[in-house]
Amino acid sequence: MTAPHPFWLAGRQATGDDTLDVTSPWDGRTVGSVSVPTDAQVEAAVAAAHAVRTEFAATPAHVRAAALDHVAKRLAERTEEIAQLISAENGKPIKWARGEVGRAISVFRFACEEARRFNGGDAQRLDTDAGGTGRLAFTRRFPKGPVLGIAPFNFPLNLCAHKVAPALAVGTPIILKPAPATPLSALLLGELLAETDLPAGTWSVLPVANDRMPALVQDERLPVISFTGSDKVGYQILDSVPRKHCTLELGGNGAALVLPDFSSEADLDWAATRIATFSNYQGGQSCISVQRVIADASVYDRLVPKIVAAVGTQVTGDPSDAATDVGPLVSEDAARRVESWVDEAVAAGAELLAGGKRDGAAYAPTVLAGVPAGTKLATEEVFGPVLTLHRADGEEAIYAAANDSQYGLQAGVFTHDIQAAFRAHRALEVGGVVVGDVPSYRADQMPYGGAKKSGVGREGVKFAMDDYTYERVMVLTGIDL
Ligand code: SIN
Repeated sequence: MTAPHPFWLAGRQATGDDTLDVTSPWDGRTVGSVSVPTDAQVEAAVAAAHAVRTEFAATPAHVRAAALDHVAKRLAERTEEIAQLISAENGKPIKWARGEVGRAISVFRFACEEARRFNGGDAQRLDTDAGGTGRLAFTRRFPKGPVLGIAPFNFPLNLCAHKVAPALAVGTPIILKPAPATPLSALLLGELLAETDLPAGTWSVLPVANDRMPALVQDERLPVISFTGSDKVGYQILDSVPRKHCTLELGGNGAALVLPDFSSEADLDWAATRIATFSNYQGGQSCISVQRVIADASVYDRLVPKIVAAVGTQVTGDPSDAATDVGPLVSEDAARRVESWVDEAVAAGAELLAGGKRDGAAYAPTVLAGVPAGTKLATEEVFGPVLTLHRADGEEAIYAAANDSQYGLQAGVFTHDIQAAFRAHRALEVGGVVVGDVPSYRADQMPYGGAKKSGVGREGVKFAMDDYTYERVMVLTGIDL
């Protein structure tokens, strides 16, 4: 039995008096165990973050940039080891895990670059009215205060990176709480942060159970909360601390829209392949995986068999196998929930075109048509490898169907028509519209976040940096403008 992984308290390794086992969703083996901080250790981490906040905000940009650059380089050097770890603790197929490490490298690299660029200061002349003669306003951004970053299981490294890197880039301390199912990647990120010269207290990684989260959320020394996870928990947080700054990256039921002009065989083959891949990547456990296809009536009948065939080519199985496209879900409970939602839709009259079978924590890539309104599949985020197909007549009906959702994270629009792309951009109630591809496309420097119940605020390195800071204006008087 190996010793439990220590956690990171104010930049130093520590152990508590309890442990948490991390098991593989694929075969149930223990991947590792982690030491869990005591209440006193959590308090020490928060106190350290609070105490160092002013000193950290004043560190030169080059110091913060050097630390971020170091982490990017070390992630690159240790890519394979980290990808194996992500795959083991999360069940993510190794090819997607490698992609995740690549993205985390980009996040730290962008943060390094933005740390150097950020906060250059904007000047505004105030002599536009007589009362402002000789006055100049100068604006810089300053941290709102230490951040509580709460990360989900579905990207155990990269969604931690999206919380940590922007915080360090602006010089604000962060307490990172990884998901209890997948803390190992976050703790490994801590190893790389510990190799830097960042001041003690500027970061901690605390693998505490979810039922201990409310105390952290309530702590006034952590005025900023960046949460990624379910809308239920996200809104509980927001409602419990309405005066804090909360960024919430919540659910989605991403739609891929196929417009009438996207109609050649090659077009439909491309759309079908992308839809099949990105309804199933990571077992559909991404907030922007494709859950709904809304295709124009003129292409629907040709598109459906192509999608079903493409879904049939998805290789399911052992996530450590490089050929595997779709591994298990995060737990058997998660797969059982997906199974019950599909069963409910079928019992209500939906047509099952592929899949619909569970084996332990694995759920087969599934396609349904005619899912009745009001079922969970039609209204909620499935977070599983399940695709629902819908026919609509014309562009307006397609946009209306896409907007007929409580969520609004991203949408994909298959069209060649630039005017239609602009119409879609205006019409769709989402945080991002991807033209020519699925909603699942995300570049880590883009603003990322939702409309409606998909959340509040934006991530994407520079945008999170804005989110963690506020503008402070300085008015200079007696200036010879
Ligand atoms: C998410 O599930 O919200 C993150 C998706 C991504 O980063 O690709």
